[in-house]
Amino acid sequence: MSGLRIYVPGDAAAVAVGADEVASAIKAAAERNQTSITITRNGSRGLHWLEPMVEIVTTKSRIAYGPIRVADAEAIFKTAAANGANHPLRLGNPEEIPFLKKQTRLTFARCGIVDPRSLEDYRRHDGYKGLERALQMPAAGVVEEVTQSGLRGRGGAGFPTGIKWKTVADAAAGQKYIVCNADEGDSGTFADRMIMEGDPFVLIEGMTIAGIAVGATQGYIYVRSEYPHAVAVLNDAIAAAREGRMLGNGVAGSPHAFDLEVRVGAGAYVCGEETALLDSLEGKRGMVRAKPPLPAHKGLFGKPTVINNVLSLATVPIILEKGAAFYRDFGMGRSRGTMPIQLAGNVKYPGLYETAFGVTLGELVEEIGGGTANGRPIRAVQVGGPLGAYFPRSLFDTPFDYEAFAKADGLIGHGGIVVFDDTVDMAKQARFAMEFCAIESCGKCTPCRVGSTRGVEVIDRIMANSDRAANTALLEDLCNTMKYGSLCALGGFTPYPVMSALTHFPEDFGAPPSLAAAE
Ligand SMILES: Cc1cc2nc3c(=O)[nH]c(=O)nc-3n(C[C@H](O)[C@H](O)[C@H](O)COP(=O)(O)O)c2cc1C
Ligand code: SF4
Repeated sequence: MSGLRIYVPGDAAAVAVGADEVASAIKAAAERNQTSITITRNGSRGLHWLEPMVEIVTTKSRIAYGPIRVADAEAIFKTAAANGANHPLRLGNPEEIPFLKKQTRLTFARCGIVDPRSLEDYRRHDGYKGLERALQMPAAGVVEEVTQSGLRGRGGAGFPTGIKWKTVADAAAGQKYIVCNADEGDSGTFADRMIMEGDPFVLIEGMTIAGIAVGATQGYIYVRSEYPHAVAVLNDAIAAAREGRMLGNGVAGSPHAFDLEVRVGAGAYVCGEETALLDSLEGKRGMVRAKPPLPAHKGLFGKPTVINNVLSLATVPIILEKGAAFYRDFGMGRSRGTMPIQLAGNVKYPGLYETAFGVTLGELVEEIGGGTANGRPIRAVQVGGPLGAYFPRSLFDTPFDYEAFAKADGLIGHGGIVVFDDTVDMAKQARFAMEFCAIESCGKCTPCRVGSTRGVEVIDRIMANSDRAANTALLEDLCNTMKYGSLCALGGFTPYPVMSALTHFPEDFGAPPSLAAAE
């Protein structure tokens, strides 16, 4: 390819801070200078404070510059023409930026590097090697490989992926389905979106391997409506995969058939819950179904269905390519492999940080995240989305591990971390969690439907200092009822943010400070 080559992310986070305008301005500068230029809209590398992070291809490596504004476009074009020349916003080889260099990128190995719409580029970067190996194995061997890798569902519940696949593989049915949960409703999370926008073929490959492993010929990707960029990239990538005979009849020249379609949700948090998602996919209002039957036995249209999160499925190709032992070697305890962690909220270096399980919460928010963006002390960190607990500084030595978080009455969930400084009012945060549950409740069970509304009222009374002791006891009682009596985790886990706020930050509810919250 002749002429200059420049990468400008097409990722929604970069677009939100002007990446489209920057791409147009660089193109215009090249035209003014009568220079041929190829601009590739790659995914984001996940260094969000540097977006739009533009990369130019030099004779040695890519050189990154950022954050680039439209006013910088002419100068950036000139640095490209001068083979990566100096500029105040020059960051050097992106792979050498410490935030990126220190990561272990397995699921995100190609994100930000490849052209997300190019099947050829995906193949050039070791794409489809996992499928190639899977096709040489018996289907049961593929399931076993995933089981042995120790991969657990990245959507929130952490259920072993291989066991779920085996249940579907063992079910006798004429039709089975693979459903990808791309509803990504958790606050502070964006890893699914980044994969779909930055490396969609890895998800397509993972779903194809899942289909072949369990005997499913059709897959659906259920994407939240707030992700139009992801939907567009996925549809283009699916079309390219079909064209390249990697989807459809005779996948990759094998006797297997597998095809995929994208479906867009309608904006309900509860439709991320797997059974509500299936209802929504079937064209109904998303309501949680009672279990059993499990979706693995009776899922989409009553057929055995694998339903997995984007990250779970996008991690399958590297497990098949490199083997279960390679993946299992990363991590700690029963949390094997790596986790794409998302740093958000009031944090200096927000973004995507993929690393082996075992890193502590303190390392994540203070060292990697650099503390708060405004320089104030961190007071609380919410991990695992709106149903996750608030952690005080005294729990910063908790390692990122499913069991360690559960022991501290928290959850890893989808790996989202939201940082709050010392101005946060934790009583307001507790009220927000209850109100969120009241608004998003599907209404099927009483503890959640009624309990969340009553919960808001009780917190309001505590905040107004009305009969505080009795109302605090009532809130605890109500939280227990919701925890043990709700049909799904929306009602069942809302007590976690509420009770963690009350336990670790009692002074915000008008009680004496907790020793636990102190440093
Ligand atoms: C209220 C609620 C919302 C959920 N939202 C999501 C979501 O947005 N994405 C997701 O992958 N899982 C979500 N889950 C978890 C799913 O029910 C399910 O466990 C997951 O899709 C299984 O895939 P995995 O095993 O790969 O994690 C949610 C669960 C609940 C209770
Ligand atoms: S806990 Fe809430 S969201 Fe879940 S089934 Fe019950 S009412 Fe619906």
